[in-house]
Amino acid sequence: MAPLPPAARPPRAELHVHLEGTLEPDLAFELAARNGVVLPYPDPESLRAAYEFEDLQSFLDLYTAGMSVLRTEADFADLTRAYLTRVARAGVRHAEISFDPQAHLVRGVPLDVVVGGIAGVLERSETELGISTLLIASFHRDRDSADALDVLERLLAMAAPIVGIGLDSAEAGYPPGRFEAVYARAAQAGLRRTAHAGEEGPAANIRDALDVLHAERIDHGISVVQDPDLVARVVAQQVPFTVCPVSNVRLRAVPSLAEHPLPAMIEAGMLVSINSDDPPYFNAYLDDVDDAVTAAYELTRDQRAALAAASFRGSFLAPDRVAGRL
Ligand code: ADE
Ligand code: ZN
Repeated sequence: MAPLPPAARPPRAELHVHLEGTLEPDLAFELAARNGVVLPYPDPESLRAAYEFEDLQSFLDLYTAGMSVLRTEADFADLTRAYLTRVARAGVRHAEISFDPQAHLVRGVPLDVVVGGIAGVLERSETELGISTLLIASFHRDRDSADALDVLERLLAMAAPIVGIGLDSAEAGYPPGRFEAVYARAAQAGLRRTAHAGEEGPAANIRDALDVLHAERIDHGISVVQDPDLVARVVAQQVPFTVCPVSNVRLRAVPSLAEHPLPAMIEAGMLVSINSDDPPYFNAYLDDVDDAVTAAYELTRDQRAALAAASFRGSFLAPDRVAGRL
């Protein structure tokens, strides 16, 4: 099936994208030059050529190394603006962007630099690019939960403009339950709660994210299909799942789109949205992911419209704002 022209793409929301994962090799080299950072590649093409992954960890290693060029408020602002400018062309009208505060704090980049740079662009995104935005602070599963709690308190103390929290990074060996207190504190502070679970790990991680963390939304969650009772539950409760099919193939969580559980999740009646995760690393922004999924599953125009509507339904927008987008 031929890719749809931009005008034919239904307006939609992107709910699962890591800001640090939107760093294009060209921008990485520009920021490296600006900040006097030496990248271990001669040019952007060589860096892009290194984007071949064996699993989540091999991606996380490169993703973390790439962040070394992000130092100043202007860097974070440029990164944010570049992503939003690109997805405006993909039909994205609402974006919920995650960032990894701990990844920057450990490099000595202060929280106000990170948040200030991102927020300055987000607050103008609706008027300048026609994209409403919400910001999510994601904590690292493979770090101590006390550190996450400390960073959360600092974000609250500085009144950072975040709508909610998430949990990301390595999954194998790091079940979500350890972050119960972090999620309880976020709930108490009125923050929304999502969590990566069931990307490389078992369905039990999704259960724990729901039962222990009381997560309202699940990022990835593809192993849910291993547990029919859990599928029935998330269908009944219409728990939003932000699925990233191209990412899952590129990180070899599944062998191919043809073998991806997305069609089964949709068929079961789950509230599923399609997302990019870390677009340049997987060579796929949201329009590319849409085209790949449309071709792989021969989706009809109505099915695409239903997925676009689900992206708003699964968002953290206030219900009246969701209704206005459907
Ligand atoms: N951080 C950025 N991308 C991620 C992914 N796919 N899974 C876990 N953490 C991530
Ligand atoms: Zn992710």
